Amino acid sequence: MGYLLRLSLCLLCLSLHSPLTTSSPYPNSSAQLCHEDERFAMLEFKNSLAINVSSSISQACARRGQVPYAKTASWKAAGSDCCQWDGVTCNPLTRHIIGLDLSCSELQGTIPANSTLFTLRHLRSLNLAFNDFYPSRISPSSARFPALETP
Ligand SMILES: *[C@@H]1O[C@H](CO)[C@@H](O)[C@H](O)[C@H]1NC(C)=O
Ligand SMILES: *[C@@H]1O[C@H](CO)[C@@H](O)[C@H](O)[C@H]1NC(C)=O
Ligand SMILES: *[C@@H]1O[C@H](CO)[C@@H](O)[C@H](O)[C@H]1NC(C)=O
Repeated sequence: MGYLLRLSLCLLCLSLHSPLTTSSPYPNSSAQLCHEDERFAMLEFKNSLAINVSSSISQACARRGQVPYAKTASWKAAGSDCCQWDGVTCNPLTRHIIGLDLSCSELQGTIPANSTLFTLRHLRSLNLAFNDFYPSRISPSSARFPALETP
């Protein structure tokens, strides 16, 4: 029992420290584009949702002093560096997507459990506040992000 506990604690510390200690596979990756599979996943996620500028949630957002706008509208397809996209943060060394802030983005729709959003394995922060998501089980599914920080 004590051994199992120690083992699981060890796995926990590994998972907490690996993002920091993993060395980049690219010696000079500031010149690299973002990862192809992650860009694809992001575009799939974007295309699975509608943009509704007249959503009442966007009005709530405006009342809080944030200007709602469709951040995903600027996301472009092939050849573009998704690390430069609106709302996207990448690890500067590995170029993996580590943050996604799509608050107040006029998004409308559902996020199913098989959404490609959940394939972003390096994601550590996710903000989807003030969008019009129909009941979709975001909380249980977010356990699929191994690196996601709990607020
Ligand atoms: C890394 O890439 C940047 C931008 O392309 C370049 O200015 C710099 O000289 C490169 N550094 C090395 C060590 O190659
Ligand atoms: C956009 O949102 C408004 C308010 O929530 C809603 O009445 C309208 O039907 C939505 N438009 C579409 C195309 O779903
Ligand atoms: C998710 O599953 C639905 C059916 O349950 C399917 O139609 C859809 O294509 C799937 N989406 C992805 C991204 O796999």
